[in-house]
Amino acid sequence: MKESEWKINWSDTLSVDVPEIDDDHQQFVARVNELNQAIVDCRDKPTVERLLDLMLMEATHHFWHEQQLLAKWKYPQRAAHAAKHAQLTVQFERVMKEFEQADVSFTWALKGLHIKQLLVDHLLQEDMKYRDFLRKKENAGQGLRKRDARKGSRPSV
Ligand SMILES: [Fe+2]
Ligand SMILES: [Fe+2]
Repeated sequence: MKESEWKINWSDTLSVDVPEIDDDHQQFVARVNELNQAIVDCRDKPTVERLLDLMLMEATHHFWHEQQLLAKWKYPQRAAHAAKHAQLTVQFERVMKEFEQADVSFTWALKGLHIKQLLVDHLLQEDMKYRDFLRKKENAGQGLRKRDARKGSRPSV
């Protein structure tokens, strides 16, 4: 399998402009790459399973972390976002079960690619929505600050 088929390269297009979340996402990306590298290298099943377990644990923690911040920011779609996390956790668990039952390395590779896709899709489709929300909020804040500055008053935010 060519590396480009499974490797995720971190780039600014994956950034949500929130350093503590970007840190989580970068760790996640590194873990997915580690998992897929292990599959490509035909590492034994317990090694791959250990990586999957770690990834699921980290994902669960990350989802919780993200949801705390979404609540703090009063992100309007936070309930829907949390529901997507719950859905993703169920999908991860299903893929892990399928993995546990599979004993052909080709099938393992497909499972690894599937997890990568779930992660990237969520990041690009769902997490980017709150990035856009935060950007709009930030721009609105700057607009207010500019107006206040014109009035000669102190910035309000
Ligand atoms: Fe998310
Ligand atoms: Fe996320």
